[in-house]
Amino acid sequence: MASLTVRQIDEALKKKLRLRAAKNGRSMEDEVRTLLREAADEAGHAILENFEPSTKRSAARGRNVEPANGIACVLLIIAGGIAAYKSLDLIRRLRERDIHVRVVLTKAAQEFVTPLSVGAIAGEQPFTDLFNPAHEFDVGHIRLARECDLVIVAPATADLMAKLAGGHASDLATTIALATDKRVLLAPAMNPRMWSHRATQRNFAQLQADGVSFVGPNEGEMAEAGEAGTGRMAEPLEIVAAIERLLAPSSERPLAGKTIVITSGPTHEPIDPVRYIANRSSGKQGHAIAAAAAAAGANVTLVSGPVNVPNPPGVRVVHVESARDMLAAVDRALPADIAIFAAAVADWRVDNAYKEKIKKSPGARTPSLSLTENPDILSTVAHRTKQRPQLVIGFAAETQNVLANARTKLAAKGCDWIVANDVSPSTGVMGGDRNTVMLVTRGGVENWPPQSKDGVAAKLVARIAEALRQ
Ligand code: C5P
Repeated sequence: MASLTVRQIDEALKKKLRLRAAKNGRSMEDEVRTLLREAADEAGHAILENFEPSTKRSAARGRNVEPANGIACVLLIIAGGIAAYKSLDLIRRLRERDIHVRVVLTKAAQEFVTPLSVGAIAGEQPFTDLFNPAHEFDVGHIRLARECDLVIVAPATADLMAKLAGGHASDLATTIALATDKRVLLAPAMNPRMWSHRATQRNFAQLQADGVSFVGPNEGEMAEAGEAGTGRMAEPLEIVAAIERLLAPSSERPLAGKTIVITSGPTHEPIDPVRYIANRSSGKQGHAIAAAAAAAGANVTLVSGPVNVPNPPGVRVVHVESARDMLAAVDRALPADIAIFAAAVADWRVDNAYKEKIKKSPGARTPSLSLTENPDILSTVAHRTKQRPQLVIGFAAETQNVLANARTKLAAKGCDWIVANDVSPSTGVMGGDRNTVMLVTRGGVENWPPQSKDGVAAKLVARIAEALRQ
């Protein structure tokens, strides 16, 4: 510990300390230091022999964390949203992992949770006021901002996001976010319309560009009756996972600070309100890549077609149906450092999808469908002159001439790498858990051994990290 602040010393104890210090010719601070040293020397050995440092305990329970000063310490800013009640559970989950949690409550947050309940769970009084003389002399906002390993804002409201994107320093929370030299993680929570509003999306993009990390928001029901969509705060354990990733040693976070957009799964192209054109893609490979990239520290937006696989942890997931929706969602997620297009996008859609269900009636002609080509998302992004990600990766799922087709695609689509694989039914790749791929770049071809889709994802992420380093 660099320093120690002892609060709530009563007057009688202060008097004794003053007298002891005067008698020994030491300052009060020196006297406290001497007492602590003596106590540690006397009692320390026996206890220390059986003592397992908390960082070791955390590592044993899960991922290793890299604390700045022995015990990992996070500063949690709770802003004023109904999701603030989940932040109490977040504090518990962090403390269970021996992570020290210091809490700042905004004025609005105190309408949802009280300093008393937060303090009881955190094990120390939360901070609420920029101009509180006791705290300013004691800890001070600059020390609060710096004496932690990570700053988390959960829930991050639309209002607070706007202030952070604009660089405001109008209260304790915003001042800390501006003064900190540590990484900042936001867990947004707001009504779906507020989240999708252009102003919030602009602030979100700005904060990402400023290097702020995000977890969520998730899709689902809102606290307001009848409201659903993207805007739910990530669950406490998802936030804990994101925190552990950010606190992991840098060797485990080779994509820290990088923003990645990934497409995954099939698309559904409507024929009429109940029928659609689809394909057999399960989304397993794209989702595995998203999970691996997030685990490597990247800020990941996964644009997923309709799939039955769960959302990967620590990833912002946007669910879409059609190719055109997918392109629009990718556009909203740009700019990004890296784009990976693993989705099996339908090449064609029905020209004019029927507005009503097509009815089969005796003697009526069998309907014929007129198809039109879908936008090629990979090619569109790869050929951009503005906002083109530094590394654009496509997939080539082929049933014959895999390498030749992959090379043709690399050139035609204008991407940097193609991950090619044979998806003939006999390979079991479509929907299965294993994959055999080759990585085709302008420099050559790498044949990767057969492995799980998670293995392919981890190797691809490692290759991306290596390429960025070079
Ligand atoms: O379907 P195709 O073999 O052309 O797909 C190759 C690559 O192009 C894949 O990475 C796929 O995600 C992408 N693609 C796309 N938009 C399309 C078609 C394909 O992004 N409309």
